Amino acid sequence: MKPIRILLAGLLSACSLCAAAQTIEVSLAKPGAPVQPTMYGIFFEDINFAADGGLYAELVKNRSFEFPQDALQGWKAFGRVEVRDDGPFERNPHYVRLFDPGHPHKWTGLDNDGFFGIGLKEGESYRFSVWARVPEGGAATLRVEFVDTASMGEQQYFTQARLTVDSRTWKQYEIEMKAGRTDPKATLRIFLESRGVTVDLEHVSLFPTDTWMGHRNGLRKDLAQALADLHPGIFRFPGGCIVEGTDLDTRYNWKDSVGPVENRPLNENRWEYTFPHRFFPDYFQSYGLGFFEFFQLSEEIGSEPLPIISCGLACQFQNDSPDAHVPADRLDPYIQDALDLIEFANGSTDTKWGALRASMGHPAPFNLKYLGVGNEQWGPEYPEHLEPFVKAIRAAHPEIKLVGSSGPDSEGKQFDYLWPEMRRLGADLVDEHFYRPYDWFLSQGARYDNYDRKGPKVFAGEYACHARGRKLNHFYASLLEAAFMTGLERNADIVHMATYAPLFAHVEGWQWRPDLIWYDNLQSFRTVSWHVQELYSEFRGRNVLRTTMDGASVSGAEGQQGLFASSVQDGDKVYVKVVNTSDEPRKVTLRFTGLKKGREVAPSSRVRFTTDKLYEDNSLDAPENIVPVRGPLGGEMCTAAGLAAAEGRKPTRAEIRSTDRMAELTLAPYCFDIYVFEAS
Ligand code: AHR
Repeated sequence: MKPIRILLAGLLSACSLCAAAQTIEVSLAKPGAPVQPTMYGIFFEDINFAADGGLYAELVKNRSFEFPQDALQGWKAFGRVEVRDDGPFERNPHYVRLFDPGHPHKWTGLDNDGFFGIGLKEGESYRFSVWARVPEGGAATLRVEFVDTASMGEQQYFTQARLTVDSRTWKQYEIEMKAGRTDPKATLRIFLESRGVTVDLEHVSLFPTDTWMGHRNGLRKDLAQALADLHPGIFRFPGGCIVEGTDLDTRYNWKDSVGPVENRPLNENRWEYTFPHRFFPDYFQSYGLGFFEFFQLSEEIGSEPLPIISCGLACQFQNDSPDAHVPADRLDPYIQDALDLIEFANGSTDTKWGALRASMGHPAPFNLKYLGVGNEQWGPEYPEHLEPFVKAIRAAHPEIKLVGSSGPDSEGKQFDYLWPEMRRLGADLVDEHFYRPYDWFLSQGARYDNYDRKGPKVFAGEYACHARGRKLNHFYASLLEAAFMTGLERNADIVHMATYAPLFAHVEGWQWRPDLIWYDNLQSFRTVSWHVQELYSEFRGRNVLRTTMDGASVSGAEGQQGLFASSVQDGDKVYVKVVNTSDEPRKVTLRFTGLKKGREVAPSSRVRFTTDKLYEDNSLDAPENIVPVRGPLGGEMCTAAGLAAAEGRKPTRAEIRSTDRMAELTLAPYCFDIYVFEAS
C-alpha cells in the first residue's frame, strides 16, 4: 500500500480532507465520443463595424464614391471637385474629377476621415493607391498627406508624399508612406498640386502594408491574430441577419463579394438601420472582405469554412409581409448561387467559378465541407424554402453537409416546430441560437444530455450570456458561459460545433453587445469571454470522458453546489474542466476510476480563470485585467486504501484492490479551472 502523502499546498491538497468533499468521478475505462475538430469555432458577421472599419484593414471610407445618399459621404471636398458616373468599374461607376481651382490662392482636393478617424502608427508603412487618369493629358501631381486636423502646431500634416498621374487612360498608382507619428484619428488629405490640369480619381485606398499574412487586400493583423489564437475549428460567415438583408435587395450576395476588389459593388449593411438609438447612417459593406478572403482566412487559421447563404427569406424580424420574400417556387437563382458557391470553393480551375478562384490567387480548392442555408429563419416558410435547396444540393453534392436552423429561440414554439422539420428534411446539423440571461445559462448545463442521438447534430451557432441591465462583457457572464460549455463538451457526440456571437465590435461603432473582441482604430483587447473560448479550444481533447457526481452529470443540478464539470482525453493527457459558479470555495475530490492495473495518473498543470471583479472585463487600457493563470499542478494522487487510512479506518479488500486514484481540488469561488493530468 502506498503511504499517504500530504499533497502540495494550494494545488492538490491533503488526502485527509477527501471525506468532506464532493466527489467528481472521471472514468478512464474507455474513451467516449470523439470531440469534433470543428467543436469550438468563430462566427463572423459585419455588425458593430466588424468588417469595414474593423477586421478589413482598408482605412478609407467610401473609397469608390458609391455611398447612395451622397457619393461624397465620408469625404470633404474643396476647390473644384465633381462626382461623375462613367468610371472604369462597371459596378462602381462613380469617381471624382478634380479641376484646377481657378485661382492661384485656392486649392482643389479631398479629405477622408476613415472610420471614426484613420488610425496610424508611427514608423509603420501604409500603401496609398488610387485609380487615376489625366483625361485631357499632361501630368498631375497629387500631394498626399496624413493630417491631424486638430493640431495646434505650425502644420497639420505629419507625413507627406507626392504621386504623379500621367496616363490618359485609367491606371492604378501607388506609393508607400511612413507615418510620422501615431494618431488614432488622422485624416487622409489629397491636394491637386499641379495647376492647369484635370485629374480623375477612383477607388482611393489606404492600407497598412503590414497586414495579416501580408495580403494586399488584407486584414488588420491584431484582429486576425485574435482569431487565430482561438484555434477555431469552424468559421461561420458572413452572418447572421446580414445574410438575409433588411430586404432581399440588400441581402449578402456572395457573388458581389468576389473578383477584383474595385468592382465589388457596395451593399447597405443590415445593421445600418436596426437600432435608431445606436444609429450609423454611413454603415455600408464594401465587400472588400468577401468570400475569397473569408475562405482564405479560414484556411490560414486552420478552420473549416461554413458559409451561410440566403434561402430567399429577407430578415423575418424586419418583414411581416410574405411579399418581402421570394416565393418558394421561384428559388432557382438562389439555389444556383448555392451550387455556384460550392464550385467557387471546390471546383476545378476549368469551371467558371473555380477559374475565378484561381484568378484571385488560389487555384487549389478550399475544400468546403459545410453549407448553411438560411440564417435564423422560422415559420413554415423556412422548411418550404429550404427543401428545394436540400434536394438540389444533395443531388449535385452529396458530400456537402447542410446546416439548417431552429430559429431565433433557444426553446418554445418555433424551436419545437423546426427541429422535427430539420430532421424530416435531413439537415446534417441544426443551428441553435441563444442570447440568454444568467439563470438560463445556470439551468442549461444538462441541455443536451437527453437530445435525440439519431437526428441531426447540433451547431450552437450563436450564443452569449446577456445579463439583464448589464450588457457589457463581464467576468460572471463569461463564467456562466464556461459552465454551460461543459454541457457542450459532455455531449460532443451530438454537439459538433459551437460559436460565440457576435465576434467583433468597434468601441465607437457598436450596435450590439456583448461581443468577443473589442477595438478602436489602433488597439484591441480580448474579452473575458474570449478567454473562455480560447481555453475550451486549447483543451479540446480528442474524446469525452464520463464525468459524474453521484452517477449524474455535473451540470449545476440541485445538490451539486453550483458545480459544472466535464473531461476529455487527449492521448496521454486528461483535461478536467470544473466551474464553480458559487460564491463559496469548494473542495472537490476528483476520483479517476477505470484505470487498468499498472496504469497511473499524475497531476501535471492547472489553468485557473477567476477574479473577485465579477462585473469587470478587460479593456483597451487594461487588456490583461482578468486573464487565466497557468501553473504546475503538484502533489500526488491518493489511493482508495490511502483514503481509508486517512479516514482512520482499515481499508477494505476492495479498497486495497482498487486502481482508483484521487486528487483533491480546492476551487476558488467563481472560478473556471482546467486540471491537466498525465495518464501513463
Ligand atoms: O449576432 C447578432 C444577430 O443575432 C445575428 O445577426 C442574428 O442571427 C441573431 O439574431
